[in-house]
Amino acid sequence: MSVVENNANMIPEDWEPKIIAFCCHWCTYTGADLAGLNRMNYPANVRVLRIPCSGRMNPQYVIEALNKGCDGVLVCGCHPGDCHYVTGNYYARRRMMIFKRLLEYEGLEPGRFQVKWISGAEAGKFRDTVMKAVEDVRALGPINLTREIPYFELPAMPDDDEEAFNAVPEEVFPEEVNA
Ligand code: FES
Repeated sequence: MSVVENNANMIPEDWEPKIIAFCCHWCTYTGADLAGLNRMNYPANVRVLRIPCSGRMNPQYVIEALNKGCDGVLVCGCHPGDCHYVTGNYYARRRMMIFKRLLEYEGLEPGRFQVKWISGAEAGKFRDTVMKAVEDVRALGPINLTREIPYFELPAMPDDDEEAFNAVPEEVFPEEVNA
């Protein structure tokens, strides 16, 4: 049975989506800051949480947020190749790709969990990503879980970097985790 019941046709008039954005301290969080400094407007539906690196992102945080009533989750990190810790976002990309598939297998709509790469200079991309995420989640309606999403244990990443890089060939990544 799917974890969500689609209720896009019964959206209460005063409903506003609640979205959490986990942002890497070294890039996207700076981009979000820059968006603020440049006085760019974006919806207040998104609460930004700073994480040290997208590689530090634990899928359990996403499950916890959704189980507690968040309507959508965004994970943002440095562009592949630009991670402050060199390989963190390569690990994140593989982990998030598998995790996204697992969530979809459980019945979660793809728009509720998005992964983006945004640098510290890309304030405009941050604003556009947030606006798009809010728009996508708004179209889906409030999350209506039929049961709690179970906690998945994803296997640990191999210690050997080369093995991790080659674990999943680049071309199998869906556009949303390669953008
Ligand atoms: Fe930003 Fe690793 S430091 S993704």
